Amino acid sequence: MVIAIGCDHAGLALKKEIINWLKSEDYEVVDCGTFSEESVDYPDIAYEVAGQVLSRGCTGILICGTGIGISIAANKIDGIRAAVCENEFTARMARQHNDANILAVGARVVGTGLALEIVKTFLNTDFEAGRHARRIEKIHWLEKNAERGVN
Ligand code: RB5
Repeated sequence: MVIAIGCDHAGLALKKEIINWLKSEDYEVVDCGTFSEESVDYPDIAYEVAGQVLSRGCTGILICGTGIGISIAANKIDGIRAAVCENEFTARMARQHNDANILAVGARVVGTGLALEIVKTFLNTDFEAGRHARRIEKIHWLEKNAERGVN
């Protein structure tokens, strides 16, 4: 299974821990940066990971200080459903109910141990479909029809 992962400078240390765990579990990792502690703009990283997710049909992981900015940026892209998760429950729900294709994590919010549990839960939980599929279809409709918030 391929995982595209990226972070800004605030998420660099946590990204390394997550990559180590992913590799130990035999995931194929596509590292979209950043690769140093030099300050970068999280929308640039969100764009790179989202591109991998859409072109490969793989799962993505994004990390910034809070997970908020980088998920907001990723969610501007058609077909991306990025969810900021701060615990295992929200990680499970993001997959079961929202079919999230990107997990966003805040490196300044959760410690490494919890972050790894969040990643494991997200990667090991399936979309429940059923009534939730109809809601995802409505999100797709919004992507195509409600760009400026007008009917
Ligand atoms: C960077 O300082 C910080 O703003 C960024 O990592 C993120 O938390 C934004 O949402």
